[in-house]
Amino acid sequence: MNIESLLATRTSHIKASAIRELLKIATNPGMISLGGGLPSPESFPLALIEELTDKVLKKYGSAALQYDLTEGFIPLRKALIDYCKSIGITAGMEHIYITSGSQGFLDSLGKLLITPGDLVAVEGPTYLAALQAFNAYEAKYVKMETDDEGLIPESMEEVLKNHKVKFVYTVPTFQNPSGKTIKTKRREQIAEIIKKYDALLIEDDPYSALRYSGDALPTIKSMAPDNVVYVSTFSKIFAPGLRLGFFVAPEQVGRWMVIVKQGVDLNTCTYAQALATEYLTGDYLDAHVKKIISLYKPKVDVMADALKDYFPEEYKWTKPDGGMFFWVQGPNTIDMEDVSKISISKGVGFVPGKFFYPNPDDGLGTMRLNFTCVSHEQIKHAIKTIGDSIKEEKDKRGIK
Ligand SMILES: Cc1ncc(COP(=O)(O)O)c(C=O)c1O
Repeated sequence: MNIESLLATRTSHIKASAIRELLKIATNPGMISLGGGLPSPESFPLALIEELTDKVLKKYGSAALQYDLTEGFIPLRKALIDYCKSIGITAGMEHIYITSGSQGFLDSLGKLLITPGDLVAVEGPTYLAALQAFNAYEAKYVKMETDDEGLIPESMEEVLKNHKVKFVYTVPTFQNPSGKTIKTKRREQIAEIIKKYDALLIEDDPYSALRYSGDALPTIKSMAPDNVVYVSTFSKIFAPGLRLGFFVAPEQVGRWMVIVKQGVDLNTCTYAQALATEYLTGDYLDAHVKKIISLYKPKVDVMADALKDYFPEEYKWTKPDGGMFFWVQGPNTIDMEDVSKISISKGVGFVPGKFFYPNPDDGLGTMRLNFTCVSHEQIKHAIKTIGDSIKEEKDKRGIK
C-alpha cells in the first residue's frame, strides 16, 4: 500500500514542523537544547497533582471519567469566570469554552473559518504551530509589520484596508518566538482599528502570567470584547501534558466552535479539567506561578549576561520581561540554519528564526533561544558555543 497516493490534496500544505525535528535531535544524549519551547519539568507540581487527584476522585467520582459537554466541564468554566475577572476580562460561563490545549482551539478555528486560499493576518515572525494549524486548511498569509514593541497598529490597519482577511492572529504578550510585548497605547489602537473594521482578532496569550519585570498589561479582549477571541492555556502555569486550553469568545463564535469540536474530539479530557478546577478553586495558582517565576527569572539574567559576553556585537536582542524566549536579530547575510548545523555538531541546538516567518527569507539572520529547560551552566556553555559557531560561519564566508 502506498500511502502517498492516498493523501488528501491539503497535505501538500503541511510540512513536518522544523522545531519538532530539532527537538528530536535535542533528545540525543549529551545535547544541550535551547531549541524547544517546553516548560521546565522542575516547574511541574507533582505533589500537588497527587493531592488534587485524590480530591478529584472523591469529589467528582465517575463523573471525572465520563464523556462530558463539548463546551467544557461546567465547574472549570465557572472557575474560569473568576480567573478571567482577575486578568480584567468580564465573561460569563456562556463565553468560556475549554479546548484540548490552545492547539485544539487553533485547529478548530482553522476548520471553522478558513476556506482554501483565505487570508490570515499574522505578525512576522509568528507562532509556528498556529501556521501549521492554519496551513492544514490551506490558508494564505499577509504579514503585519512589527518593531521592538511588537505589532505596529498602522501596519495592521493597512492590511485590513487592503486585504480581505478572515482574521488577525496575534500573540501580544512575550510573543513566541520574539519575546516582544505590545504596550497599552498600541493595544488601545489595535482595539480601535479592529472595531472600526468590524474584524475578528485572535489574542493568543499563553505567557502573560510568567512576568519577571514590569506591570501586567490589559488584554486587547477587554478593549474590544465583541471583536476579539482570547485564548490561553494551562500549559505554562500548570502542566502541558494535561492538554488544557480555554478561550473566551462572543457566544455566537463559541457555539460554532462547539459544533466543530464535536467532530474533533467530542470533549476535552474530563479528568484533566477536573484537576484544573481544583487547582483554580483551591487557591494554588498564585503560589505555584510565583515558584515558576523564581525558577525562570534568574535564567533570563544568565542568558542576557552570556549573550553580552559571547555574541558578536552586530547581533541585537532585548531582555524579555517575561515568557520563555530571547530573540536575536543578526544580519541577513548569515543564515542561522547554517550556524545551527555547526552548533549542533558541537552539541548545542537552537531554532533558526526563519521558520517562524510565513516567508522564511524575511528572517534568515534571526534565532529563538529558549532558557526554561537548561541549567545556568548549560546556558553559558550553549551561548558561548552558538557565538563561536556564528564566528566560524562568518570566517567561512570571509565576513569581518
Ligand atoms: C503562542 C503560543 N500559543 C499557544 C501555546 C500553547 O499551546 P498548548 O496550549 O496547546 O500547549 C504556546 C506554547 O508553546 C504558544 O507559544
